Amino acid sequence: MQISRIPTGINGLDSLIEGGFPIPSIILISGSAGSGKTTFAFQFLIQGAKRGEKGLYVSTLSESWEWMLRFMSTFEFFDSKYIEDGTIEYLDLGKDLAEMEEAKILRKIKEVVARTMPQRIVIDPINVVNPYVKNYRQFLFDLVTMLKELSTVTLITGEVNEREKYPVDVGYTADGIITLIMKSEENIIKRYVQILKMRGTAHSLSLHPLEITSEGIEVLRARF
Ligand SMILES: Nc1ncnc2c1ncn2[C@@H]1O[C@H](COP(=O)(O)OP(=O)(O)OP(=O)(O)O)[C@@H](O)[C@H]1O
Ligand SMILES: [Mg+2]
Repeated sequence: MQISRIPTGINGLDSLIEGGFPIPSIILISGSAGSGKTTFAFQFLIQGAKRGEKGLYVSTLSESWEWMLRFMSTFEFFDSKYIEDGTIEYLDLGKDLAEMEEAKILRKIKEVVARTMPQRIVIDPINVVNPYVKNYRQFLFDLVTMLKELSTVTLITGEVNEREKYPVDVGYTADGIITLIMKSEENIIKRYVQILKMRGTAHSLSLHPLEITSEGIEVLRARF
């Protein structure tokens, strides 16, 4: 059976995963601080918007949308028109996490998804939810179960320290795992990307060099 896919928006990535992310799917984007998770997520949403697909960006931090957009607007791929015309919408869960019960948070996400009907969803970053909910594993399970009922592609970002590749509690339920790596080599940090898992896909297993420039994230050809 041929699986339908959508382009990721990241130059050089689609050819490594048979053309794009499977529809529907839940993809974990993991990496340490500053590895490019949020940039990846925005490129994915903007790419969708250019194709007429609606996007929903769910922030788990109490960062204002304006704050977020100020940084993203430094990239050439960014186009504020998709924010202004509502093609990409925003949900801030920062405050709710501190005040609401798990079930209520999930209901709120569900309501916003039902109202905005996105084809692309981003939840960025998931790990900050952990200290707020009583049972993080159960919350993740319920969240993923809810997302799996949709016909969307959802990117869930997860921050890790240098020793881990991805947060295991999110990884096992995800259909795909892409890890953004920052490696110290002599006097410089080099960026790489590796696809650890992509269900239904014959994907590259190599470590591919990655660049973040004013044009955004680009995957370069593997040297290994
Ligand atoms: N205009 C730009 N040109 C080149 N590189 C940039 C530009 N803007 C940001 N970067 C690089 O991208 C990094 C930020 O990436 P991003 O915010 O996507 O990472 P993140 O993994 O989401 O980080 P965090 O853990 O803070 O959420 C910056 O630290 C910087 O190295
Ligand atoms: Mg980020």
